[in-house]
Amino acid sequence: MKPTPKTFHVKSFGCQMNVYDGERMGELMAAQGLTATDDANAADLVVLNTCHIREKATEKVYSDIGRLRKHGRTPMIAVAGCVAQAEGAEIVRRAKVDVVVGPQSYHNLPDLVGKAVRGESALDTDMPAISKFGALPSRRKVSPSAFLTVQEGCDKFCTYCVVPYTRGAEVSRPFDAIVDEAKALVDAGARELTLLGQNVNAWDDAEGRGLHGLIAALDGIEGLARIRYTTSHPNDMREGLIRAHAEVGKLMPYLHLPVQSGSDRILKAMNRSHSRDSYLRLLDRVRAARPDIALSGDFIVGFPGETEADFEDTLTLIAQVGYAQAYSFKYSPRPGTPAAEMTDGFVPAEVMDERLQRLQAAIARDQAAFNAATAGRSCDVLIERTGKLPGQMLGKSPWLQSVHLITDAQVGDMVEVEIVRADPNSLAGIERIRAAA
Ligand code: SAH
Ligand code: SF4
Ligand code: F3S
Repeated sequence: MKPTPKTFHVKSFGCQMNVYDGERMGELMAAQGLTATDDANAADLVVLNTCHIREKATEKVYSDIGRLRKHGRTPMIAVAGCVAQAEGAEIVRRAKVDVVVGPQSYHNLPDLVGKAVRGESALDTDMPAISKFGALPSRRKVSPSAFLTVQEGCDKFCTYCVVPYTRGAEVSRPFDAIVDEAKALVDAGARELTLLGQNVNAWDDAEGRGLHGLIAALDGIEGLARIRYTTSHPNDMREGLIRAHAEVGKLMPYLHLPVQSGSDRILKAMNRSHSRDSYLRLLDRVRAARPDIALSGDFIVGFPGETEADFEDTLTLIAQVGYAQAYSFKYSPRPGTPAAEMTDGFVPAEVMDERLQRLQAAIARDQAAFNAATAGRSCDVLIERTGKLPGQMLGKSPWLQSVHLITDAQVGDMVEVEIVRADPNSLAGIERIRAAA
């Protein structure tokens, strides 16, 4: 038995889909009359919305639980997200938490909290046939740049990845539900929407409208200024979506298209089902449609069997593409995945470290060059928050670069800015024209 919680705190780890889920769990608990608090150490209920993608991410959960219980504090702890899905009852055994809830059943969080209050077992990692979205309260106040999950799950089964197991099969949310939520988000203050999915460009409906059809519908929403989407898989990049980058005014010139490796041998072992060449040809088509597009990617170094020659193939691919930004990770074997059984060609930790450093240096070089090319240009900046200096505001360029400027513009304003200085990780601008909010 535990007292009924009055305050709560949600802490999200991992990808943007978890951030979105965390916001929706927060709205759900607020609708139950609980008050949100920024201080996890003061909350009666702490929801840890977890990520299972790499071992380090998973271990963070257990250290966080330990920290929350320091000094004999006993808040109610709910573990949500992908670790909850993957480990289920094991978490209750190992860490004695009160609630475990998976990413497809978090609409049941209030019921589960009620069970925990009554001292009953509170675990739900079902993947119900009926979507959770219908059972969630409507959107209220959001930031100018808001997330909107349109697709969940993955059928790709890359050999290193847990997502198909933690998030389940690929499912697209219905067209109308998405358009309605997009309008509600715009009414609640969003000016930019980022459509989310583990394979967002696989989004489709019975009419075969595809993600580009959905984007075209969102383009018509008054008050919405920008549309983005992430994460895409190379094999789901259809012609219509590429064309949307040339034709849809609100679609931003940015594409996150993970490749993981530049070596065909490794891509095959990863079950990526695209080759180095097919990926590069795809990017040629994207660039033909939108020449100024900023490209981003994900890379894994040290996959089992990766030789120095394989890794150099990744470096030459990076040099060929010229990424504006990228994320890179050391391979982490995950329980239950086929790659975890691949014991041949194990890459030692120091080799992984060294490869990661070289890869990140290559990306940093290209990112600095991409940013430098923006200097002297003018572009729209969506103001997202205040900066550290007096009068300083921070926002994003169309190419997702961070821009800082001194202005009396407010959060949510769109400002035309001249970029006067490019640093490796951000741009400095001066205001030219303010568009009406
Ligand atoms: N759906 C996206 C990515 C989802 S996971 C895609 O297909 O690209 C985000 C990134 O985490 C992946 O792109 C990959 O680079 C990385 N990742 C996934 N599993 C990993 C593992 N076992 N070890 C290291 N990095 C991993
Ligand atoms: Fe994981 Fe591959 Fe699916 Fe991306 S496409 S979520 S890396 S299995
Ligand atoms: Fe992590 Fe789950 Fe996202 S494993 S990356 S939180 S889909």
